[in-house]
Amino acid sequence: MAEHPAYPVGLRLTGRRVVVLGGGQVAQRRLPALIAAGADIFLVSPEVTPSVEAMADAGEITWHQRPYQEGDLADAWYALIATGDTEANTRASAEAERNRVWCVRSDDADEATAWTPATGHSEGVTVAVLTTDARGRDPRHTAAIRDAVVEGLRDGTLVAPHHRTRTPGVALVGGGPGDPDLITVRGRRLLAEADVVIADRLGPRDLLAELPPHVEVIDAAKIPYGRFMAQEAINNALIEHAKQGKSVVRLKGGDPYVFGRGMEELQALAEVGIPCTVVPGISSSISVPSAAGIPVTHRGVAHEFTVVSGHVAPDDERSLVDWPSLARLTGTLVILMGVDKIGKIAETLVAHGKPADTPVALVQEGTTAAQRRVDATLATVAETVRTEDVKPPAVIVIGEVVKVGPTVGAPRK
Ligand SMILES: C[S@@+](CC[C@H](N)C(=O)[O-])C[C@H]1O[C@@H](n2cnc3c(N)ncnc32)[C@H](O)[C@@H]1O
Repeated sequence: MAEHPAYPVGLRLTGRRVVVLGGGQVAQRRLPALIAAGADIFLVSPEVTPSVEAMADAGEITWHQRPYQEGDLADAWYALIATGDTEANTRASAEAERNRVWCVRSDDADEATAWTPATGHSEGVTVAVLTTDARGRDPRHTAAIRDAVVEGLRDGTLVAPHHRTRTPGVALVGGGPGDPDLITVRGRRLLAEADVVIADRLGPRDLLAELPPHVEVIDAAKIPYGRFMAQEAINNALIEHAKQGKSVVRLKGGDPYVFGRGMEELQALAEVGIPCTVVPGISSSISVPSAAGIPVTHRGVAHEFTVVSGHVAPDDERSLVDWPSLARLTGTLVILMGVDKIGKIAETLVAHGKPADTPVALVQEGTTAAQRRVDATLATVAETVRTEDVKPPAVIVIGEVVKVGPTVGAPRK
């Protein structure tokens, strides 16, 4: 075959017959993309892997349980030839050639009329990488290039600004619990594209240092509020910057909607007609216990977990939490913003029937370099917080799950 480079093209396969010969690992790997493309998949193979069988059972492909036979490619637009029988593959690719059906071959790229690129996706774009000739084919190298491009686009290290779709407005981005690796890829990309970032004290603050110099970073805690409430001042800052046509990221700790006032900000923006997109984040309520070796559920131990704000004491009239009911639950209780009131909270839970020896763990500054775990029981937690000088931010976990993890390896203090 001449040494010309392959000609790249995107096939639109919706409703069109694609014939797949073979039901082993190659087919298993390629089928999901063909299914996603909406192809009418006609798979021929005496045997298939359990995953391929599941696709057939789900109606995603039609499986003909027999070997390849002449004529199978009659109605095909495209074929994937991947049986373990080289002789059958050769006959099938000869049929494809006669019928002018583009075909890929898993066993012999030189004999194929098409090659499958290494592909990846990021925000509505497909990245496809092909080598230029069959002899130079190095699938691991093309996959590595694909990974580098897709990862770069996702995390913002490869900056490809949107020119048509990028609209000014605000993105409420959940930044996760603090470790910069625990933000979502979408959040990280929006951060890389922002003109202005308004950040909280919690969340991945290390990422702010990586932003290009033209990005204006505003500390939400330092916005002067004058005659407004602090939250109103933040809302106003979001509105003002967005009105100037800038891309604004409101970077919040954890998830924007878990005790994060995200909806208040979205509503304030909606009232003045500013578009707002919300990017969910990994909430500290689950990730901080997890980082400290505590599963919030565990088979045979806890079938539920409840996340509660402890920012007001149980006897405070502003409290919306039904502490007596929580005392009766057998599952895990996760308390956020509860360090200052933990004494009162523990007392109330015990007064309503929770055993005083129920295990408690406090995880301070979870997922950061300063992470620290302190263990106690409901009876001792108030005193432990004092003697160990536990400070916010901390997640408090109450329940038997505190004890299920191995003590070795978990970052305890
Ligand atoms: C206002 S709430 C915001 C919660 C956030 N939206 C979330 O989903 O994680 C703040 C509380 O979250 C908890 N928190 C957040 N990040 C934390 C971390 N890295 N370590 C320990 N606690 C954390 C603390 O209980 C803190 O007082």
